[in-house]
Amino acid sequence: MALSLGIGLEFSQRFVRQHNKPFIPIHHMEAHALTVRMLHPVAFPFLVLLVSGGHSLLAVARGVDDFLLLGQSLDVAPGDALDKVARRLSLTKHPQCSTLSGGQAIELLAKDGDRMKFPLTTPMGKSNDCCFSFSGLRNQITMIIIKKEAEEGIEEGTLLSCVNDIAAATQHTVATHLAKRTHRAILFCKANNLLPSNNPTLVVSGGVASNQYIRKALSLITEREGLGMLCPPAKFCTDNGVMIAWNGVERLREGIGILSPNVDVYYEPKAPLGVDMTEEVRAAGIKLPRVKLEIPS
Ligand code: KG4
Ligand code: ZN
Repeated sequence: MALSLGIGLEFSQRFVRQHNKPFIPIHHMEAHALTVRMLHPVAFPFLVLLVSGGHSLLAVARGVDDFLLLGQSLDVAPGDALDKVARRLSLTKHPQCSTLSGGQAIELLAKDGDRMKFPLTTPMGKSNDCCFSFSGLRNQITMIIIKKEAEEGIEEGTLLSCVNDIAAATQHTVATHLAKRTHRAILFCKANNLLPSNNPTLVVSGGVASNQYIRKALSLITEREGLGMLCPPAKFCTDNGVMIAWNGVERLREGIGILSPNVDVYYEPKAPLGVDMTEEVRAAGIKLPRVKLEIPS
């Protein structure tokens, strides 16, 4: 990652110097959060859930470069967990999944699976905050896979007969975890008047946001709480150059963070997004009402 960022940075610095153009450094997660505004006129502030292979976070977007971070992953990101489960299940050997990412493979197989066959515990049930955790869930699934491999008398690297059911249980638990944390974030925003009373909106973006089952779970929560939900189309949800360019447009229009071509800029692997409110959210200790997530697969 550092190597590719370095090469990209070197190229763009040479490019702006050659053409004497301003340099606008972009925060990757800010770009994911703002992409939606390229396609819909979503006014600030709005709530945003960003779920990808490298991140999961909930934030209030108050302006182009003004975010309140409500919660983020304490360990791995949901896309990373889905990719690792898919790898452990050897899904690239599945005839329908050979060209798919882990998350896409799990979504496809889950359509024909029974999530009830493998009841999984939703992470962090006892923490009344908006943070996420996916590594314990991954461990739960690995234990199930090891047990089933022993039962079926097969070795790691061979496809299990119950991959569809494991995919369905995995996808449902990830969806439930994301929906619960998002529900709490909505309640926190309502209690603190962080969203407009007129047309409050949840924006969902990042690679995992292209998952239709996860979108449905989130829409059940937003409908219940009176929020609209917007997701950029899949091609703009996953990493893409257009979202970075659009972030540049937004900053250029507002005159924010525009540097001279000769300024030295470095990439930051872990740049924070906005003001960290995770402690305030935890201190509020918001309990969730029970919501049944009945989603047809
Ligand atoms: O946003 P993205 O392209 O790159 C990062 O910034 O990480 O997200 C890639 C991640 C991968 O982990 C991939 O498995 C996941 O998004 N993903 C999905 C789906 N499509 C891509 N996860 C669940 N369901 C999908 N349909
Ligand atoms: Zn990304």
